Amino acid sequence: MCRVCSLRPKGRARLRGPMTATLRRPPEPVAPRHTSFELDTPRVHWLVDDAQATHTFNVGNLLFPTGERFFNDSLRNALPYVTDERIRTEIRGFLGQEVTHRNEHERCVARMEEYGIDFRRELELFESFRRRLNDRVNRLPEPFRKQAVLFMVATTAAAEHFTASLAGYVLADNTWADTDVDPEMAHLFLWHASEEIEHRHVAYDVYHHIGGGYLRRVAAMVPLAGLILVGWPLLTSEVMRRDPAAKGRWSWRAHVRSARRGEVFSLVRSAWDLRLYFHPNHHPGDLPGSLEQALEYLSTAPSVLGHRGPRRS
Ligand SMILES: [Fe+2]
Ligand SMILES: [Fe+2]
Repeated sequence: MCRVCSLRPKGRARLRGPMTATLRRPPEPVAPRHTSFELDTPRVHWLVDDAQATHTFNVGNLLFPTGERFFNDSLRNALPYVTDERIRTEIRGFLGQEVTHRNEHERCVARMEEYGIDFRRELELFESFRRRLNDRVNRLPEPFRKQAVLFMVATTAAAEHFTASLAGYVLADNTWADTDVDPEMAHLFLWHASEEIEHRHVAYDVYHHIGGGYLRRVAAMVPLAGLILVGWPLLTSEVMRRDPAAKGRWSWRAHVRSARRGEVFSLVRSAWDLRLYFHPNHHPGDLPGSLEQALEYLSTAPSVLGHRGPRRS
């Protein structure tokens, strides 16, 4: 039994709590954890039997693996410029956590394919673009390489702002205990949300440590915010179109209602959180999601088995 979310592995999910962050960084450096999710749900629409609500999360399954590979590229590329041992340790922990997220979401993508929702071609295109971009950056001579790496890390910090903001709403606002949801899928997203909150400061700290400034941080956020806030609904709509079992089309009204009922995170509230990122003294630790709540979930969740390997290296 999970003490925080009152969810047995096959039970119902609930994790609600305060949206007030009091800790800015976790007391220990971040580190990856072992997990044991059973992601063979027989339900194509695993959240309230609703295609739009389910695919709002499934879009994450499609976007996270390539996104997280890019985040890891950027922080791995930054390592030669990092002189602080704590930050180097945090980078290694961040890389490990994102690899675990990627692996679990790729299992979900394979499950979606079994249901006839196929994005293989597009995902391969994203992947080849990411690989080519990273190769190109690493072939640049200094000081151009460092400038390109700064922009990559700024993009990662901006994306991590979004994942942490969405994660905060997933953790604090969900009503999954009183909702018809597949418990393992619920735990998968609660675990990912909690680790996003746990490591939300890492890319931002690396960016400033290696000499990143305000203008580049904001410049990276502007196109990314447009891409996420417009792209997420569009992609959800496209997943619904390709889903042989889905009826109807994506609608803002349904999204707002579903978010109000606590079934999905609110894109509108995450758009509002953007204002925080544009403040010159912003730090990800000031985002509304509670780090204490995330750490408590991670220490009690049934499918999260504890840390993998040494916490410090
Ligand atoms: Fe992640
Ligand atoms: Fe992340």
